[in-house]
Amino acid sequence: MLPAETAHGVTLGLLKAGLVPSQKPVQDPVLASRHWGLDFPNPLGLAAGFDKNGEVPDIMLGLGFGFTEFGSVTPRPQPGNPKPRLFRLAQDRAVINRMGFNNHGLDAAVGRLAARERKGIVGANLGKNKDSEDAASDYVKGVEKLGPLADYLVINVSSPNTPGLRALQGRAPLEALIGRTKEAVSKLLAPKPLLLKIAPDLTPEDRADIAEVALSSGLDGLIVSNTTIERPASLRSAEATQGGGLSGEPLFEPSTRLLGEMYKLTGGKIVLIGVGGIGSGEQAYAKIRAGASLLQLYSALVYGGPPLITRINRDLAAFLKRDGFSSIAAAVGADHR
Ligand SMILES: Cc1cc2nc3c(=O)[nH]c(=O)nc-3n(C[C@H](O)[C@H](O)[C@H](O)COP(=O)(O)O)c2cc1C
Repeated sequence: MLPAETAHGVTLGLLKAGLVPSQKPVQDPVLASRHWGLDFPNPLGLAAGFDKNGEVPDIMLGLGFGFTEFGSVTPRPQPGNPKPRLFRLAQDRAVINRMGFNNHGLDAAVGRLAARERKGIVGANLGKNKDSEDAASDYVKGVEKLGPLADYLVINVSSPNTPGLRALQGRAPLEALIGRTKEAVSKLLAPKPLLLKIAPDLTPEDRADIAEVALSSGLDGLIVSNTTIERPASLRSAEATQGGGLSGEPLFEPSTRLLGEMYKLTGGKIVLIGVGGIGSGEQAYAKIRAGASLLQLYSALVYGGPPLITRINRDLAAFLKRDGFSSIAAAVGADHR
């Protein structure tokens, strides 16, 4: 009943006030996996953009997520785009956002993360300021400040709402960007896994280039994918013409197709996090079979609420067992074999 961004603010307020009851996580060994030396109790994570400022990571873990990612955080605080900038497409079980990296900046995030009671795996999603001339130096700052506090780091070059950002996915700029960011990671006292989050709207050439660069530069993973600037003809909601990135159910098919392609292009040699339109255990299972080792969601929470998290995990465990898989790892990429 509230405007979308107001509802989001109220939700964060309720979470921070402890008014959203925690949920017993699904504890099933079939859902457990280990990546980068980290033990994931289940593969379902919270995607970036819900907790832009790292205010509620442990509370979200308490709702049953296997891990959570906060951000995108930019070096300096910035207000983002003018409101309204967040829209529900209820008939399509989708969301359009053009937030534009509204966030409190790195120092505020550092303060919060340093004070947290570590309840599980938390990743930091790094962005660049809108008015920054040197993108790589923004990501380097993110690594330097949040690297010591996060369990993994994400270079986000795939938001459609920061002008020029997605051009960083081209081969030459990407190589330079990953090179500088990796160097900063290697200087951390305890180096952390470095991942890249990509857009669903890439040309075949971009996709092949990203796969090659990911492997040659020693990236630890790819997150596939961010929101799309495409508008499928099937959309029925009045807000479908809003500018920005589309997420939720209509993103499931294209983001899963891209996931499968990136799995083939990288030969299964690198961890893929599948995100885009997951709203059921069946869809979570389909992402794993397409090549994802880990999963994330955001938009489905708008429509399904917290109970969705345990439901997806429970159903996913049932699908794995039905098909004779003893672990997530055994099912990753099964569609390609
Ligand atoms: C309101 C909103 C804000 C988002 N902000 C970010 C962000 O700051 N950084 C980022 O990497 N992705 C961001 N995303 C993208 C999500 O992390 C995710 O990749 C995308 O929504 C697809 O997943 P979903 O269909 O489950 O929502 C945002 C998504 C939404 C809906």
